[in-house]
Amino acid sequence: MQNVTIVDHPLVIHKLTHLRKMETPSREFRELVKELSSLMAWEVTKHFPLKEIDIETPICKTTQKVLAEKDVVIVPILRAGLGMVEGFTNIIPKAKIGHIGLYRDPETLQAVEYYKKLPSDIAEREAIIVDPMLATGVSVIHTIRLLKEANCPNIKVVHILACPEGLKAVTAAYPDIPIFCAAIDDHLNDHAYIVPGLGDAGDRLFGTK
Ligand code: URA
Repeated sequence: MQNVTIVDHPLVIHKLTHLRKMETPSREFRELVKELSSLMAWEVTKHFPLKEIDIETPICKTTQKVLAEKDVVIVPILRAGLGMVEGFTNIIPKAKIGHIGLYRDPETLQAVEYYKKLPSDIAEREAIIVDPMLATGVSVIHTIRLLKEANCPNIKVVHILACPEGLKAVTAAYPDIPIFCAAIDDHLNDHAYIVPGLGDAGDRLFGTK
């Protein structure tokens, strides 16, 4: 699918298998989500521009490259997205964090916003939306729309697990937005859980089941 990158590094696949296992406790689940997020951040930041600077090694003067400061905002979708933030800020320490809180109305199945706090300079930042699971796509479509309304010039989306139904919905609504995930699972079941999936990511992260 155009604009969808599967980050299928062996370390990612290995950690994802352990994340899926039902016996993995919350403490380990949180650690795995953090590690997977950092590994995915490598791929997501691959295009970051570099600039040349003059430095001196113990041997001689030389011109080498460093990152040309790129302003980033990480946008977790509450609550499961919170589990991915630290993995990203470990790789992009200067990133700001914006928060979007959504729940799905059981009647209309639409996303209802209960919290929004974005940095005031969002229009000058590249946004990376994080949410471990891409299920129906309703939450991420709503979040992309909010960021576009805030004039955010460059938006990417990172999930750990996606499914064909969610990818189809998001790419139909926003074909220009790059999506990164570690795997695309088989399908979404009648309760909107990804199959085989890993269960409820929020409950498993925060031990609320
Ligand atoms: N959200 C989850 O936490 N798990 C799923 O399988 C789908 C949505």
